Amino acid sequence: MIKQAIIPLAGLGTRLLPLTSVMPKELLPINGKPNLEYILDECFEAGIKEFIFVISKNKLSIKKYFFNDVFYKKIIKKKNDKRIIEEFKKIKKYQKMIKFVYQNNPKGTGDAVLKCRKYIKDKFFLMLLPDDLIINKNCSKEMISLHKKTKGSIIATKRVDKKTVSRWGILGFSEKRKNFFRIKNVIEKPSIKQAPSNYAIIGRYILPSKIFSEITKLKTGQGEEIHITDAIKNLIYRGEKFFGNIFMGKYLDCGTINGYIQSSIKIFKGKK
Ligand code: G1P
Repeated sequence: MIKQAIIPLAGLGTRLLPLTSVMPKELLPINGKPNLEYILDECFEAGIKEFIFVISKNKLSIKKYFFNDVFYKKIIKKKNDKRIIEEFKKIKKYQKMIKFVYQNNPKGTGDAVLKCRKYIKDKFFLMLLPDDLIINKNCSKEMISLHKKTKGSIIATKRVDKKTVSRWGILGFSEKRKNFFRIKNVIEKPSIKQAPSNYAIIGRYILPSKIFSEITKLKTGQGEEIHITDAIKNLIYRGEKFFGNIFMGKYLDCGTINGYIQSSIKIFKGKK
């Protein structure tokens, strides 16, 4: 069973400035709900019982968002507003499930995952990048059922325009079926020439706890960061089973201003 999810939240969000100069990107509302709550709802529905938030001292407002009981209790006492009571209940539900770890120096996703090592109890865990929203279908749920079937690690993937491969982690594969394939190789942000395919990694991973020792062996990669992609590549080369899950939902990129605006519009339209 996959019960724990790591969510790296220490990034600076510079692609979303000026919106992120005082507000973490993960709390920016998308059609009336913070980005991060879409991710939590997806995980909760997929059976996740514990979230490990990797934050930094610059992102303490994320902690405050989920642990602001005194404020809520005061308002509820004064107003007894049904809507606020329901929202508070939801926040309390998540509050019980969240642990925090700190990554004060943003050194990449690999480093963020490594910081959670002592909290991971099972052989596999889920990791989600909150810039990537997937709507209409529950991607984490799909991945967990593929994991049950294959007993391997899983990465969510979708086909992208060949011209854009250098923006993504790109997968090389074999044994392709309708909705999944066996991953043979992975390259972080390759040139068009280097790219083994045009199937890109989207920010959802089911990873083995073996990955922690693999991360400790890594040197810093592109952009002076420790990339989870490099640890995954080394595990694959050593025979670890990884599968690409070609997910069925709709992908929304909330990490750039244009993507953020488009995501709000698409979620709004989908709800009409
Ligand atoms: C990260 C990953 C990349 C993946 C992408 C999906 O890149 O490193 O492999 O394809 O997320 O959004 P970033 O968006 O942090 O540059």
